[in-house]
Amino acid sequence: MEGTVTTGPTPVMAAEAEPEAIARGVRCLAGGGLVAFPTETVYGLGADATNGDAVARLYLAKGRPSFNPLIAHVADLAAARALGRFDAEAERLAAAFWPGPLTLVVPRAPTCNVSELATAGLDTIALRVPDHPVARALLVAFGRPVVAPSANRSGHVSPTAAGHVLADLGGRIDLIIDGGSTPIGVESAIVACVGGAPQLLRPGGVAREQIEQALGHELAPKPAPVVSIDEAPLAPGMLLAHYAPRSRLRLGAKRVRPDEALLAFGPALPAGAGAATALLNLSEHGDLIEAAANLFAYLRELDARGPHAIAVMPIPDEGLGAAINDRLRRAAGPRA
Ligand code: TXA
Ligand code: MG
Repeated sequence: MEGTVTTGPTPVMAAEAEPEAIARGVRCLAGGGLVAFPTETVYGLGADATNGDAVARLYLAKGRPSFNPLIAHVADLAAARALGRFDAEAERLAAAFWPGPLTLVVPRAPTCNVSELATAGLDTIALRVPDHPVARALLVAFGRPVVAPSANRSGHVSPTAAGHVLADLGGRIDLIIDGGSTPIGVESAIVACVGGAPQLLRPGGVAREQIEQALGHELAPKPAPVVSIDEAPLAPGMLLAHYAPRSRLRLGAKRVRPDEALLAFGPALPAGAGAATALLNLSEHGDLIEAAANLFAYLRELDARGPHAIAVMPIPDEGLGAAINDRLRRAAGPRA
């Protein structure tokens, strides 16, 4: 069964209606809903970063063909430090540019409660403290991290006004908070601080020169294989780091062989399931939203048991199933 994203037309609330607009946004996020809101760069489509089902619905609403990792937005540096590990360079950049149009990719912290689906199973996390009164008010009132990709359908341009969001996503999301035009109009610059010299992964709202000035040295050259940038498809082997289990994955499995663990989907288990070395079911009722929310965590859990291989049952290639299959194919692909 494929879940729908939302029902009926999407309400638009003027941010001047604060605090009602913010209170409604918070209720919506807390209930697992999708709320578009302005940041200083572009409008973001927000979901509770800690709620895997909400994150899955977000990918579905955007029509993303793959689970590109998302930026977790937080109210301040202290909240960011609970999610990621900041080395001296990351601290320097955060001090110089937050709140503002800079996203930092840092190693995931042990205390990080962001859904693995939002980080696409990576060991790193993209963090940003936006500088916009509406975004800040929403983050402070919600008190949890909010993942927010640009609030456009996949492949469309980023929205800089509430009307763009409505045209692209109306009827697919739960609320739009209209805070007028976004002042910067291009997405944040993304810098990775994951050991070694920081790297500029995406040019954006803060210029390279400003970043290098704050660091006191040059950014490392952009790595040849680039981590997923924008909506570009993630080709296997083209990533700095993408989730790759140690165990071999056998996709579309209609029976389970001895020595295999089983990643199941739906109520009808395949022959040999009873003898699987381990079994986790992405969704017993065959719900693709639930399956997406569980995908990376379950792959990790089965992989940790060190099976000879992980047999993965066929997943329907519709709705979020297309993105699930995309990530499974990458995880099953050749190793670097
Ligand atoms: O200005 C912005 O950054 C806007 C506003 C809404 O904050 N958001 C935005 O998000 O542009 P999105 O999802 O459209 O772009 C986020 C980019 C993607 O290209 C994604 O691949 C990259 O960030 N990203 C996220 N996590 C990453 C990670 N752990 N490592 C490398 N890249 C990552
Ligand atoms: Mg985007």
